[in-house]
Amino acid sequence: MRLSSGVRTSSPEFRENQAYHETLSRQLEELLAEIRQGGGTDLITAQHQKGKLTARERIEELTDSGTSFLELSPLAGYQLYEDRVPAGGIISGVGQIAGRLCMIVANDQTVKGGTYYPITVRKHLRAQEIAWKNHLPCIYLVDSGGAFLPMQDEVFPDRDDFGRIFYNQAQMSAAGIPQIASVHGFCTAGGAYIPAMSDQSVIVRETGTIFLAGPPLVRAATGEDVSAEELGGAHVHTSISGVADHLAENDRDALFILRDIISHLGKRESASVELQSPVRPFYDPSELGGLLPAVSGKAIDIREVIARLVDGSELFEFKKNYGSTLVTGFAHLGGIPVGILGNNGVLFSESALKGTHFIELCCQEKIPLLFLQNITGFMVGKQYEQGGIAKHGAKLVHAVANAAVPKLTLIIGGSFGAGNYGMCGRAYDPDYLFMWPQARISVMGGAQAADVLCTVKRQQAERKGLPFGEEDEQRIRQPVLDKYEREGHAYYSSARLWDDGVIYPSESRSTLIQALASCLHKPLRETRNGIFRM
Ligand code: COA
Repeated sequence: MRLSSGVRTSSPEFRENQAYHETLSRQLEELLAEIRQGGGTDLITAQHQKGKLTARERIEELTDSGTSFLELSPLAGYQLYEDRVPAGGIISGVGQIAGRLCMIVANDQTVKGGTYYPITVRKHLRAQEIAWKNHLPCIYLVDSGGAFLPMQDEVFPDRDDFGRIFYNQAQMSAAGIPQIASVHGFCTAGGAYIPAMSDQSVIVRETGTIFLAGPPLVRAATGEDVSAEELGGAHVHTSISGVADHLAENDRDALFILRDIISHLGKRESASVELQSPVRPFYDPSELGGLLPAVSGKAIDIREVIARLVDGSELFEFKKNYGSTLVTGFAHLGGIPVGILGNNGVLFSESALKGTHFIELCCQEKIPLLFLQNITGFMVGKQYEQGGIAKHGAKLVHAVANAAVPKLTLIIGGSFGAGNYGMCGRAYDPDYLFMWPQARISVMGGAQAADVLCTVKRQQAERKGLPFGEEDEQRIRQPVLDKYEREGHAYYSSARLWDDGVIYPSESRSTLIQALASCLHKPLRETRNGIFRM
């Protein structure tokens, strides 16, 4: 049934919200434009002078014209280190190549020689994780100096460090997920394993090299004097060593060869879901910004958001009048069926039970799930504890954790406390998680955290018989508020890869459709739950 909107787009409140969100979107746009310049225009020019394309230009040329690239986490690394590391030094995302959706991972050579900071490794691994889950062929466009040596302790030794990239390649290859590399620049030491571990690899004449140790290290270690080209150039690897399979004359030629490789892949898998013809929403997605006030965590009627996201603004609601602080219902996004769970206030036992039931239905029918988060948490208090809210909330968390259908999460407002868990936060393995610029994420709101910490300190002081006045309270409160404000920010989250990107409200529908489409290239699994606490 088509939702009906009660929003007056001419009201002062709507306009105020819209203006606020437009400002945030503009700020994001400026920041992203700066990030897209990578290491800056001088280094881009230097790259061109070497006859090379930049990472973004390679992706643009590689993907099918007229299709759009779903870029992941462009804010990775933002204000994370003393060095600027735009986009975390690596561009990743889902793009269509020769008619097939692939995960593309491209080193940005203009950012510290394309070396791997800890965030670069995490972003590479996250791209592989999405590809693995969704059986997307992986294309690695390599142009990297390998590990960022000053931070080797955070890049090398642990399980989810640099070595995990190659482990994932081996595992994905074994799972039948194609691993394809194209070597456009240096590919040194550990980095040499990216093409070496690939199913097929391309290397560009003159600019591409693969070696375990570069000429200076070879000279130091063995005294042998050898040029980079002789040691690990394209001719050596495609004619003598067999480390690479295809010789490309230049970057563009390499991209053509990659397209050829993809077009000659064999088997195709797909999920069997009943698709419909996509229909635009009846209500305009560009109105989304006008719905949410500037104060994060404030509840709004989530149906107004759903009406501006889904096909025809149609939602077939499930248990409409029960547990009404969680809206659940069936809809289509770009013709793909989706089960939606959206917060409409704080979660009560009834809403948790309803959500659990709804997830079971979607899993049974193999319908992907979309979580729209704007949640302060579960209801607290004696009445609710005695009513078993902890066990009812646990049922929802259990169902979310085990749901084997594709899961997408969009945080539009607050994402606080256990509400984050029940609504498929990062720990619950959503296939994709996006945030709006105004969204906030933290274990609780800053004011609540400040209250808790003040109470703890006051009680401590009372136990010791010490005074605890207004000034003591302020001394604790303000730094906590400031810290939560800073750390709860969407950019802070995205810089650390707690999400897959901060997106403009107005592009939510197109982003979700692209993300969802990339989840349909494998048969969907059966869901198996464990014990629900009754
Ligand atoms: N760790 C940390 N920083 C590195 C680095 C590394 N592995 N490799 C390069 N850099 C830094 C350089 O210090 C330089 O920083 P700056 O801009 O602050 O001066 C920047 O990256 C660019 O390096 P530069 O050598 O000027 O660029 P280039 O395009 O001529 O060459 C490389 C790039 C990556 C080919 C070259 O720097 C190189 O061979 N690096 C060493 C690679 C290596 O042996 N890695 C082993 C990793 S396991």
